[in-house]
Amino acid sequence: TRPLRIAPSILSADFARLGEQCQEVIDAGADWLHVDVMDGHYVPNITIGLPVVEALRKALPDAFLDVHLMIDNPDDFVGPFARAGADLVCFHPEASRHPHRAVHTIKSLGKKAGLAINPATPLSWIDHLAHDLDMVLIMSVNPGFGGQAFIPHTLEKIAQLKARHDELGVDLDIEVDGGVSPSNAAQLRQAGANVLVAGSAIFGAPNYKEAIDAIRQQATL
Ligand code: DX5
Ligand code: ZN
Repeated sequence: TRPLRIAPSILSADFARLGEQCQEVIDAGADWLHVDVMDGHYVPNITIGLPVVEALRKALPDAFLDVHLMIDNPDDFVGPFARAGADLVCFHPEASRHPHRAVHTIKSLGKKAGLAINPATPLSWIDHLAHDLDMVLIMSVNPGFGGQAFIPHTLEKIAQLKARHDELGVDLDIEVDGGVSPSNAAQLRQAGANVLVAGSAIFGAPNYKEAIDAIRQQATL
């Protein structure tokens, strides 16, 4: 199994002091920073874009920026986000005309590539790209907002993805995003997820270190 990583979603941070909030969760033990980019078309919400990724890259040169694109036409933006300083660029393949090309654009810029799978999107979207990917993100809510309730069927889907990876002979990071908390972290890890994104469960907690430790402790097999 791949190493456990806790990735606070900065969507739930205080945007008026975003740099400080990122440093606070890093100091509290975050492994990655999960950056949710939304365009108001692919999802019914607008968040942040390229200038924020550029600014975070400059302010936090050592942070691992896990950029989750919830946008239409990701083909035009994977390159710019990779160049802006993302360490990993993840997009929703059904929003892309040419997912293979988009994955290779990311890889050619020396960055890790991921595909994000919505609750109603079949896992078969990844089959022909699995050997080119670094990560698959399983959405455990419908993308668009923080603070939504975890969809329980996700556990079975993660286990199916893990089994499919074994069949395909790949060992990719499996990230789960949406409604993750200490109460489901153990089951998620057992099902096969190793990158746990949490927004409200971390930024909504009074003590970030306690919140991250609680998720990590639950998810340690
Ligand atoms: C949802 C985003 C998530 C979100 C998670 O569309 O992709 O990353 O911020 O937030 P929580 O952990 O509060 O569900
Ligand atoms: Zn996300």
